[in-house]
Amino acid sequence: MSSSTNNRSSTYAIDPIFLERWSPRAFDRDAVISDQDLMTIFEAAHWAPSSFNSQPWRFIYARKDTPEWSRLFDLLVPMNQGWAVGASALVVLVSATTAQPPGAPGPMPSYSHSFDAGAGWAYLALQATRLGWHAHAMAGFDVERAYEALDVPKTYRVETIIAIGRLGDKSLLPPPLQEREQPNGRRPVEELVMEGGFHS
Ligand SMILES: Cc1cc2nc3c(=O)[nH]c(=O)nc-3n(C[C@H](O)[C@H](O)[C@H](O)COP(=O)(O)O)c2cc1C
Repeated sequence: MSSSTNNRSSTYAIDPIFLERWSPRAFDRDAVISDQDLMTIFEAAHWAPSSFNSQPWRFIYARKDTPEWSRLFDLLVPMNQGWAVGASALVVLVSATTAQPPGAPGPMPSYSHSFDAGAGWAYLALQATRLGWHAHAMAGFDVERAYEALDVPKTYRVETIIAIGRLGDKSLLPPPLQEREQPNGRRPVEELVMEGGFHS
């Protein structure tokens, strides 16, 4: 068993960073993230594994109080804007839908680009945690507008927008979100693991 400073615990002993990482919504609006920290977070993300090392992930970011911020922030649905306004940076994660396998004559559709980008997101979030930041992924945004606003080629899939911030007091949040502002749990791992085949 492992436990963490945020009241999470695991049945089997795991590295505490897996429990320490969580997705808060209350962020300190005054926190400024340095280029050094941001680049360290992206550095970790791009060490994720990917199918034949195709590295399909791309990261489009904006830091708070910069001209680029509103271009990313305006893509979020109002519920997410309500809390992500406190983040220090927003990151749009996109993945290349084609890749050129070794020996192939040209790019081919990639089976695993989203899976690979998901690994990158996980690494990003863990590195952010290690640096004292929190990363919170969002699917609640306008995908079609993201392609236009950010000039994303149609050969990429816009995967998620990630808010990165310093944990703030939950009184900063709209009241309905204050009640939910705590690390959640997980189903028992035994429910999810099957030996030898899928059992429903
Ligand atoms: C791909 C993805 C999309 C998500 N979309 C949203 C979102 O739009 N808004 C939100 O508040 N949280 C969003 N979340 C956060 C999840 O609700 C959260 O990760 C989940 O409840 C597990 O909690 P934890 O990250 O604190 O462990 C998203 C998470 C992921 C991975």
